[in-house]
Parts: sequence; C-alpha cells; structure tokens
Amino acid sequence: MPTKVICIANQKGGVGKTTTAVSLAHGLALRNKQVLLLDMDPQGQSATALGRNPEPGIFYLLTMGLSAQETTFVNSWVRSSGREGLTLFPGDQQTMAAQTVLNAQNKPVSAIRNAISRFFKDGLDYIIFDTAPSVGGIQERAVWASDLIIVPTATEFLSADGVSKVMQMMSVLQEKKSWQGALLGILPTFYDEQTRESKATMESLQEHFGSRVLPPIHRATILRECAASGQTIFETDPDSRSAEEYQTLSKLVMKF
Ligand SMILES: Nc1ncnc2c1ncn2[C@@H]1O[C@H](COP(=O)(O)OP(=O)(O)O)[C@@H](O)[C@H]1O
Ligand SMILES: [Mg+2]
Repeated sequence: MPTKVICIANQKGGVGKTTTAVSLAHGLALRNKQVLLLDMDPQGQSATALGRNPEPGIFYLLTMGLSAQETTFVNSWVRSSGREGLTLFPGDQQTMAAQTVLNAQNKPVSAIRNAISRFFKDGLDYIIFDTAPSVGGIQERAVWASDLIIVPTATEFLSADGVSKVMQMMSVLQEKKSWQGALLGILPTFYDEQTRESKATMESLQEHFGSRVLPPIHRATILRECAASGQTIFETDPDSRSAEEYQTLSKLVMKF
C-alpha cells in the first residue's frame, strides 16, 4: 500500500487538532501500522504530547532540497516516539521561519508534497500532519500534500466558521490547483450532550455536512491530563470512552 497522507486541519486553535493527530497516530500504530507524525505547528505540541521535545526538523524539511546529502540530514531528524510503529518528525518555533522562506522563494503549492516524498516507501503506511492555523501558507501546502483531510471542530457556537474556511480552501485547491485529495470527515470534539450548545452545534453540523460528520469525541478531562503528562490516551486510560472514540476513528481511517 502506498503511504497515505492525512492532514488534521482547522483555522481555529483549541479545537482538538493536536489531540486528534497524536491519538490517531498512536491508534493506527497500535493496529500494526507504521506511522510518521509530522508536527507542523511551531508550538511543537505533538512532540510534548508524546513526551518528546520540540526540535527544528520541520524547518529543515521545508527549506532543504532533495539531494542525497540533504535527505540524509533531513532524515536525521526523524525521532523514535518510544512506541512501536510510531515515529515523530518534530517541529518548533523555527517552523515560522520556514514559512517566510517558502513565501520568499515563492515555492509552489506542491512544495510540501515534494519535501515529504522522500519518506514515501514500502512499509510506511501513514504520514499524519498536525497543523497550525497561524502559519498560513504552510497549511495550504500541507493540505495539498495530503490524500485525506480530517477537520476537528469543537461543538461550540461559531465553530462552523473554522470548518467553512477549511472547506473553502479545499475547494479552491481542487478547482484551481488540481489537488487530488478529499475530505475524510469533520470530527466534532468537546462533545457534551448535556449542554444545549453542544447538541445544537452537532445538529447544525449534521444539517450542513450530512454524512461527512464523523462520530464525535466527547469532552473529557483525561484527554487534557494525558497530553500534559506526555502520554497518549491509549497509555493513560485504554479503557476510557475517549480511547474507544479514537479507536473508532482509527478503524474508520483504515477503511479509506
Ligand atoms: N475532547 C476533549 N475534551 C477535553 N479536553 C480536550 C479534548 N480535546 C482536546 N482537549 C484539550 O484541549 C486543549 C486544546 O486541544 P488541542 O488538541 O491542543 O487543540 P489544537 O491543536 O486544535 O489547538 C488541550 O489542552 C487538550 O488537551
Ligand atoms: Mg495544536
């Protein structure tokens, strides 16, 4: 199977992108897949959620060429996550500088796809991008580099705005830049059926996006706690509802 690239994207912060990227990456690895998680957010929170340190790997990935020598150097930033099947490609604040370089050099929309092509090989099943909304330009190229997009969205009022922006970006890329990828689904997060806000938002998402709305991830303090302690939900509490929900997502992703 060729390496499948999945981007976790939303223009909004705090909607569960990093939580989803890390949980899905580990969820797939626990299903015997080989996964490389790329941390495109300058905050480097995918690394910390896995108990690792942010490092400038992404900067070099995005600014260096594809020669054998450069590839050896870029590959040297691939980090073990300490979990079978899951490796991490870390980023840090220097990712902001890569953004400036990409724009200054007027790099094409295919720049990130080209940069990650060096990782495509037999045996690597998934590349997952955790992205940041603030780094405009990188996010667009990360979406273009991906086969499938997951859009986490908090089930709160006004959250549809962030979803619409990503959807709009996707249709522009499809129409104007011949992007071949597709939406895997919209993932409602922080779901709490006890609150009217959460329920109403869920209903409105379903009204607008129908079958593209995935089963929701409930609001759960354990998800915040495990990230803070550098463990995934499958390590902190594998029997929790959150673990079950992210397992469901992993299984769903494997069907695509
Ligand atoms: N379903 C959830 N329930 C409760 N807290 C969550 C949930 N998902 C994420 N969090 C917490 O909310 C904060 C923001 O989530 P995060 O995944 O970092 O969002 P983003 O990457 O979109 O900014 C983090 O502290 C995270 O641990
Ligand atoms: Mg994040």
